[in-house]
Amino acid sequence: MNEDVKNRIEKLKNLINHHRYLYHVLDKEEISESALDSLKKELFDLELKFPQYITSDSPTQRIGGKPLDFFEKVKRNQIMYSFNDAFSREDMDNWEKRNKKLLSDDDYIEYYCEPKLDGLAIELTYENGILVLGSTRGDGRVGENVTQNIKTIESIPLKISFMDKLIVRGEAVINKKEFEGANKERVANGFTPYANPRNLAAGSIRQLDSKITSERKLDADIYSIVTDLGQKTHEEEHSLLKEFGFKTNNKYNKLCKNMDEVFDFYNYWQENRDSLPYEIDGLVVLINNNNIFKKLGTTGKSPRGGIALKFPLKEAVTIIEDIEIQVGRTGAITPVAILKPVTINGAVISRATLHNEKEIERLGLKIGDTAVVGRAGDVIPEVMKVFPELRTGKEKEFVMPKICPSCNCELVKPEQEVVWRCPNNNCFKRKIGWFKHFVSRGAFDIEGVGPKILEKFLEEGLLSLPSDLFTLKEGDILPLERFAEKSAQKIIENIQNKKSIPFSRFIYSLGIRNVGQKTSYDLAKRFNSIEEIKQANVEELEQINDIGPIVAKSIFEWFNDKENNLFLEKLEKEGVVYYKEETIKNIFSDKVFVLTGTMQSLSRELARERIISLGGNVSNSISKNIDYVIVGENPGQKYDKALEIGLKIINENEFIKMINQ
Ligand code: IVH
Repeated sequence: MNEDVKNRIEKLKNLINHHRYLYHVLDKEEISESALDSLKKELFDLELKFPQYITSDSPTQRIGGKPLDFFEKVKRNQIMYSFNDAFSREDMDNWEKRNKKLLSDDDYIEYYCEPKLDGLAIELTYENGILVLGSTRGDGRVGENVTQNIKTIESIPLKISFMDKLIVRGEAVINKKEFEGANKERVANGFTPYANPRNLAAGSIRQLDSKITSERKLDADIYSIVTDLGQKTHEEEHSLLKEFGFKTNNKYNKLCKNMDEVFDFYNYWQENRDSLPYEIDGLVVLINNNNIFKKLGTTGKSPRGGIALKFPLKEAVTIIEDIEIQVGRTGAITPVAILKPVTINGAVISRATLHNEKEIERLGLKIGDTAVVGRAGDVIPEVMKVFPELRTGKEKEFVMPKICPSCNCELVKPEQEVVWRCPNNNCFKRKIGWFKHFVSRGAFDIEGVGPKILEKFLEEGLLSLPSDLFTLKEGDILPLERFAEKSAQKIIENIQNKKSIPFSRFIYSLGIRNVGQKTSYDLAKRFNSIEEIKQANVEELEQINDIGPIVAKSIFEWFNDKENNLFLEKLEKEGVVYYKEETIKNIFSDKVFVLTGTMQSLSRELARERIISLGGNVSNSISKNIDYVIVGENPGQKYDKALEIGLKIINENEFIKMINQ
């Protein structure tokens, strides 16, 4: 076991060092910063548990990069440290616990919190009030002399009123606007764009020609005083800096009494980070009392008294423990990676889609591999990159099955497609998928009929088609009551109450391949009844907005299938009816909504579904084409933009009223 840990640590160190080298020396980015942070965090946590394996060449023990040879070196007396990372409340509570163990009971802890600027750390030295030296962090003890370049930054005073020797530190950043402008220019000149504003800021300061630096309009916030002026707290340092004439970020910072307050502040900035002119990637949290901060000392590369509380990672590194095969309602076979649970974007995930066999091949993935998992936007997480460097030799090759794991039918795949399918309409897993879809919110929206109940019913042969749900009686469910969240009587009531639903949801519930909520709505708008859709040919279907040849063919085929028609007849026989959504149409149809902030009574996802099911559209960005901006608590920058343009803004109550109309 310990041997395994030791090997893992060794491999992690090599991998991290390799990517740091690519990043810092060759200016290359093969994996995202999130992924690199995630690797570093795993190493940090392992070393915390097994300190016997810490070596001096570990990335956790080394600060920053290497000073470049073509700059004059600056040796400093006080090392310019950087902090360890934290990503969760648990990490922060552990940090607090570790510190408290080293302190006495009467050491009173308060936390000074500041948005963490994503730029390049710099140190400035003033003598007789004049800026005489500006340097980068380098390896912490030895930095690079970049005085000429730093002098081009307008917000850095060349002269201050304080006449004794003074050393301060801060962060040089490039504004988002400047960054976009510079990147546009680069692309126009045929160069690859910079990955992020931090890279550009760093590249601009570590320039031999300060004319180039001056063209890049850098900015700098100063956040700490190295010289001992008798300052007792970090907060006091900020006020002194302001007095001396430095640009500080005081107005964004907060002194917090406890971890709850720290996390309120963290949540605030997570929601509002877009409102700042520069990128931030989390908070810097410092023990405010400088004596306590000093007393805690340092470990490896970092003072114990401070920590970088980073925003949730968009990508993280974890282990692929297994690959499962999922059979969807349309028969599509999807390999799914079973993950060692990991937090992405603030939520713990344990599964990620691998899409299809080709994708596994492209990734070169084996079971047991360490991989980067990420989520683009709000979609299902996916596996993005594999690290073969971290293999132990115990990984297993994955073989795509040729028969359906549910019904043993031979899988099929048309030559030009990548997705294997189960062709058996009576396949158990496919059926379950169809039932789940049928009762889901966008379809019949039947509460209390969860997957467990459905599976049981299908196993016992009580249900064979979704239309059978309407024939169920209380006594059928009674033996299964322990599975249900609701009583048998309530479930039957729920089912019976849904016998009449809007036309678009009726269409969606049929589970036609390639027909989602939006297409269902478009069909319901264009046709008056199922009969009319049945009579439409492919060309007519294609004339509907957003419906292309593939979707049209899929609709046409569905309605011309004998079994499907029997199913429609059964629904009718059970008394299921649909109605055209004429009345609601006037308020929602073709209107575009933007959501910002948190609503109390429904999630953003649910609000989105409701809008679409009522015929509206949801956009992620503000423009003058937006009809309504729905504003919840702690709205983001979208709210400000909406105000600026003068869009119609409604609150949660008004939105709910609109839905209920
Ligand atoms: S305060 C006593 N405030 O984040 C040291 N640091 O690992 C006081 N950073 O390298 C540091 N923004 O250079 C502070 N608003 C901010 C910051 C900040 C960025 C950097 C700092 C350090 C890293 C944390």
